[in-house]
Amino acid sequence: MVEIKVGKRTIEVQAGSNLREELLKAGFRLDSPCGGRGSCGKCKVHVEGKAAPPSEEERALLGADLAAGLRLACRVTVEHPLQVRLPDLIEQVKVERTSFAASSKLGAAVDIGTTTVAGYLLDLETSRVLATASCRNPQADFGADVISRLAYALEGGLDKLTAVIRRAVAELLVGLAGEERLEVLSHLVLVGNSAMHHLWWGLDPKSLAVAPYKPVSVLPKEEEAKRLGLPLPKASVYFLPLVAGFVGADTVAAALATGITEGSGTRLMVDIGTNGELVLATGTELYTCATAAGPALEGAEISCGMRGEPGAIEAVKLGERVEYKVIGDVEPVGICGSGLVDLLAELVRTGLVDSTGRLLTREEFLAQGGSQSLASLLTEDSFQVTESVSITGGDVRKLQLAKGAIRAGMETLLSEAGLKAEKLDEIILAGAFGSFLNPNSAIGAGLLPPVDVKKVHAAGNAAGEGAKLVLLDPKAKAKAEEIAQRLNYIELATRADFQTRFMEAMLF
Ligand code: FES
Repeated sequence: MVEIKVGKRTIEVQAGSNLREELLKAGFRLDSPCGGRGSCGKCKVHVEGKAAPPSEEERALLGADLAAGLRLACRVTVEHPLQVRLPDLIEQVKVERTSFAASSKLGAAVDIGTTTVAGYLLDLETSRVLATASCRNPQADFGADVISRLAYALEGGLDKLTAVIRRAVAELLVGLAGEERLEVLSHLVLVGNSAMHHLWWGLDPKSLAVAPYKPVSVLPKEEEAKRLGLPLPKASVYFLPLVAGFVGADTVAAALATGITEGSGTRLMVDIGTNGELVLATGTELYTCATAAGPALEGAEISCGMRGEPGAIEAVKLGERVEYKVIGDVEPVGICGSGLVDLLAELVRTGLVDSTGRLLTREEFLAQGGSQSLASLLTEDSFQVTESVSITGGDVRKLQLAKGAIRAGMETLLSEAGLKAEKLDEIILAGAFGSFLNPNSAIGAGLLPPVDVKKVHAAGNAAGEGAKLVLLDPKAKAKAEEIAQRLNYIELATRADFQTRFMEAMLF
């Protein structure tokens, strides 16, 4: 055995074991979105002791950090005793709380997102939101996306994933209500996608990970909180029902909150993320599907892509010169999702990208009568947005695939319902991404069909809103269960017409 010292703790491991795996096994948190494949460069730890020198790939990812003694934990094999220092990654639960009476009857709603867990504390008598809190989903230590997380669960990590999310929700509840008030909290309502649901309940997610991607159960599930190890002696935990492997309780909750199922209008709800979840209501029927858009629209896997944080270009307009808006009062360092959709729409509008999605060369653009000033920003297979931020032809292709998948999903639902896009009364953008999206750009980039822009509305975190409604009103709970049953799930993967529409939707 070999000893690894981490702060005040010492862990004993077999010689030849992987440092990242051992740290995670011992309960330390480590950012590792690539799941230990050595490609994300995020699992940096400070290592002292005798460790084999880093490979060229590891050197490239570490850059200057190598000199500071940092290594990628997933690339280190433990052969000799090591001293390891972890970066301070334990994120605090962020809480905003108003004062409330000691006699308040409390309930909580929690939206378990793949990346972020958001919680709300409510007064069950007045319906007032007393506190909101959020934290990072700690399961991200075992893989950034649903696929790598399910893979980890299937490799024997299910109990660990269940334990860390329950612990995070427990911490969130303490942040929301204060430890002393958890006693009186009577109801906890949860929403999340189907993978988050299975990992929460500790259900074997094997059937979710392989075709035809079926959940173990789609039924709503209720349990006493204390049986799940939560610090709520008197509360029940209710998880909203699922619809299918890729249409979860979050979509059901969003459909409830947006009221899409009410009235006689034709409405389309779109939640754009790594998967685009869609719900179409025709007044009598409800249809739903999920499309694998990939993470490009959220800025991942795009050379200049980044999250919507300070330094991210969030809006772009191309005129004689490039106009852009950056989050925070800082120099731009990349582009986030809303900026990418703007940029894509502008590249198409100005003719810098042709209808097949190809970025033109400077000569081709000028030959088409394009402006000198924009042409000067075309370099070899890229367009320079700022001095340091550019988009490549490859990036455009990835965005094109993502928008093609979402748009083809919409067209398939519309055709299933025998409707044309122009007949839609409303398009509702659910989820955080939709709130930041410029509807004109979403239409210009072909992500949304060419409808009157006034018909497009953002609904914010509709899944969280739906969870709150269910917490407050038994009728809403019954309604959510009814919606889940009424939703006709359309499996796109097996449909030849989806493939045809996908090819068509790739064009601009
Ligand atoms: S480089 Fe991604 S986990 Fe190590």
